[in-house]
Amino acid sequence: MKTILLMAQSLDGKTARHANHFPDWTGTADKRFFARRTRTAGVVIMGSRTFDTLGKPLAGRKNVVLSRNPARQSRGDHLVITDQPPEAILAALAAEGFQEAVLAGGATINSLFARRGLIDEILVTLAPYVFGRGVSLFDDDVALDLKLLKAEPLDDDCICLHYRVLGGPLSAAR
Ligand SMILES: NC(=O)c1ccc[n+]([C@@H]2O[C@H](COP(=O)([O-])OP(=O)(O)OC[C@H]3O[C@@H](n4cnc5c(N)ncnc54)[C@H](OP(=O)(O)O)[C@@H]3O)[C@@H](O)[C@H]2O)c1
Repeated sequence: MKTILLMAQSLDGKTARHANHFPDWTGTADKRFFARRTRTAGVVIMGSRTFDTLGKPLAGRKNVVLSRNPARQSRGDHLVITDQPPEAILAALAAEGFQEAVLAGGATINSLFARRGLIDEILVTLAPYVFGRGVSLFDDDVALDLKLLKAEPLDDDCICLHYRVLGGPLSAAR
């Protein structure tokens, strides 16, 4: 089971201007890329705040939303609300036959998976903005060593950086 973090960020490393910022700034090419990659995986894992910015489940993909709020309700297999640990979520998805899962934010849930060593690859679209302040890819308690696998322009403005996660800081795998 491979976990791929898939996000877009400004040049100064912000994924949103504020917690409720709707991710409509990334551009058409990135949106297409996100749709294609998540449809290939078949499942997207995200935190409840990210889910709320989308407003509804992503069509054609299984949506796994982390939340401890009992008022949030799952809807069949398409929308699963869970407070299970990441390891149990990934094990259940593997048992269902998924070979990879896209982790789609936000910083809280990305960090939860990263601290447990559960992110295998990172795909980040660099969009042509500087936000100055805002939400980051991770919170401040995460350190990862990465290996750049590919840098691919998505259009004239955006570039997608593809990394493999080697491990913790200054990983011996490098
Ligand atoms: N640019 C991009 O590509 C991109 C992508 C995704 C998100 N974003 C941005 O990121 C921001 C949201 O990030 P965020 O860090 O604030 O929130 P988040 O990671 O999306 O969600 C956090 C929520 O997850 C739930 N949660 C946290 N830990 C949990 C655990 N161990 N078990 C179960 N549930 C848990 C809690 O929800 P409950 O209160 O419901 O329990 C918590 O409030 C938004 O602004 C969004 O636009 C940007």
